[in-house]
Amino acid sequence: MKITKITCVFFSATGLTEKTADAFLSALPLPAEKIDITPFSARGFARTFGPDELAVWAAPVYGGRIPAAAKERFLQLKGTQTPAVLLAVFGNRDYDDALLEMCDLALAGGLVPAACAAPVAEHSIMHSVAAGRPDAADREKLAAFAQAVWRKLENAADISSLSLPFVKGRRPYMAYPNIPFKPAASAACIQCGKCARECPVNAIPADAPEQTDKTRCISCMRCISVCPAGARGLNKIALALAEKVFAFKHGARKEPEFFI
Ligand SMILES: Cc1cc2nc3c(=O)[nH]c(=O)nc-3n(C[C@H](O)[C@H](O)[C@H](O)COP(=O)(O)O)c2cc1C
Ligand code: SF4
Ligand code: SF4
Repeated sequence: MKITKITCVFFSATGLTEKTADAFLSALPLPAEKIDITPFSARGFARTFGPDELAVWAAPVYGGRIPAAAKERFLQLKGTQTPAVLLAVFGNRDYDDALLEMCDLALAGGLVPAACAAPVAEHSIMHSVAAGRPDAADREKLAAFAQAVWRKLENAADISSLSLPFVKGRRPYMAYPNIPFKPAASAACIQCGKCARECPVNAIPADAPEQTDKTRCISCMRCISVCPAGARGLNKIALALAEKVFAFKHGARKEPEFFI
């Protein structure tokens, strides 16, 4: 198969999924067009990929699934016998059904999963877990994976000769857990409105950015990472306690998993 274009569509609340996808993309021989579907405004984004295009989809793992907001946006993307590489980036606990869910979404949209991976990145709530990842070892593995993917595509006569990789996961997918971490703004808020503009699910009112609609909030931590005044955060005591338990259970280094 001859690939003439690479397009990467990613959902990345705090930038870790994008950074991981970049490590993969940088080892491919063609530059990629990157499309960010994280903002609320990306809800209406639709695209049909061509047969000589490689579609790379990247999303973080939230509660063993991909975020519902990412899922609704991936559902708008269609392929025309387009090969796809799917990346479900997890924070060192587990990716459970997230990669399988991405494969199912890609197949439903007419794409053909050619390879998949579950790379590890720093946990975006419990930052001491997998801190600093993807690191040099992760980047090296992602680069080797990218080269293997490219060889697989080059060696395939056409899309029908691409074998689908086995992917870990179960159907029905696990239910989304209730994640209790909802950020709030402190008195340091300068009312710049950036958090409201960046929230993927419109959970922060533009005219009252110190508030959070907890029924909409998906605990993605994007508002904390974009706030220029460091004014948004979680309850420090609750977080410290939860992080201690979480790090005890899930702190041991896990390695990325590749399916090709
Ligand atoms: C709400 C939420 C739920 C998460 N659930 C999981 C999980 O089930 N398993 C896991 O290993 N990491 C989990 N993580 C960690 C993220 O998958 C990981 O840090 C990811 O790299 C975040 O990427 P981003 O910066 O692009 O959003 C979760 C993070 C958040 C914010
Ligand atoms: S309010 Fe919730 S959903 Fe919105 S950016 Fe902040 S953590 Fe994410
Ligand atoms: S980004 Fe920070 S400073 Fe700006 S409105 Fe939101 S909480 Fe306030």
